[in-house]
Amino acid sequence: MGGLILSIESSCDDSSIALTQIDSKQLIFHQKISQEKQHAAFGGVVPELASRLHAEVLPLILEKTKPYLKDLKAIAVTTEPGLNVTLMEGLMMAKTLSYALNLPLISVNHLKGHLYSLFLECDSCFPLGVLLVSGGHTMLLEAKSYEEITIQTQSLDDSFGESFDKVAKMLSLGYPGGPIVESYAKKGLQDFFSFPIPLRSKKQFAFSFSGLKNAVRVQIEKEKQNNGILSEEFKANLCASFQDSAITHLVQKCRIFFESNANQSNAWKSFGIVGGASANLLLREKMGKICKEYNATLLLAPLEFCSDNAAMIGRVAIESYRRNEFASVETLQTRPRIDAF
Ligand code: KG4
Ligand code: ZN
Repeated sequence: MGGLILSIESSCDDSSIALTQIDSKQLIFHQKISQEKQHAAFGGVVPELASRLHAEVLPLILEKTKPYLKDLKAIAVTTEPGLNVTLMEGLMMAKTLSYALNLPLISVNHLKGHLYSLFLECDSCFPLGVLLVSGGHTMLLEAKSYEEITIQTQSLDDSFGESFDKVAKMLSLGYPGGPIVESYAKKGLQDFFSFPIPLRSKKQFAFSFSGLKNAVRVQIEKEKQNNGILSEEFKANLCASFQDSAITHLVQKCRIFFESNANQSNAWKSFGIVGGASANLLLREKMGKICKEYNATLLLAPLEFCSDNAAMIGRVAIESYRRNEFASVETLQTRPRIDAF
């Protein structure tokens, strides 16, 4: 079997454990149990509920990895960024395993995990431009190597995925909002409502979604006042128009990134889109066009590994293992927020 790394992910509302072979990078085992249904009633993730569910579910998944415990070489866990109370659940399990099995502990940055979802079961390639779009973050990154990942810009307020969640909540469509809003949008007209494109007139290299979200809220309130109910047709047109503005904004700011990259001597020639919201098909299509325009190769993770999962955490951990980058069982802590990699 060769040496394996066991990785644990619990930064938000997905409980996941993976086993990855260190030499071949092959994924030997992966299971993820999402808590989406339990949080749907609240229209978003409730941290304490999420933490309790991780405590229930992670041991059940771990049980299935028992036949492989003898082959383990290290235990990896997401420690940053994320919800503190849920990160703690994974960290406690990882520390217990590390201590009980006398195995080194590896601390993994969740966002680095999303980046490495592009390289599951294969070698990484750098340099790389990356758009990270998740429920917690919207960032443009430049990755020169495993160690050199820099944040080029990020959202000034809400994230891209979060804005979909909030629009879905305003329309009482359920949680997570991304896939629901996307499917409603397919049935609607994208130019039915003219929502603002955030930071359009400014050269500012940043993302913002709160103004757009407010414009959507005002439109919904107006409709409720005028008609009392929200028809399916209204919801579809609203979702299509909102999605179009949100994606146009992403694309406009990505264009600035591509433009400045083109003028550099050590320019990246591959561009990856990662994070849960990278599953959005309209976003993939529009970013595909920009990549073609600038002669960049578009990299995407397999759909099932776009959202949170332990396989991507295991993939990062292989790199740390090779560098002997281990954490201390006594002092390793969670870091809910990060400013840099
Ligand atoms: O990466 P992820 O699983 O969790 C975080 O690290 O935050 O991303 C989840 C986010 C949610 O906000 C969800 O609504 C959004 O990704 N999302 C989408 C789509 N699928 C998931 N947003 C837009 N379009 C989608 N198809
Ligand atoms: Zn994530």
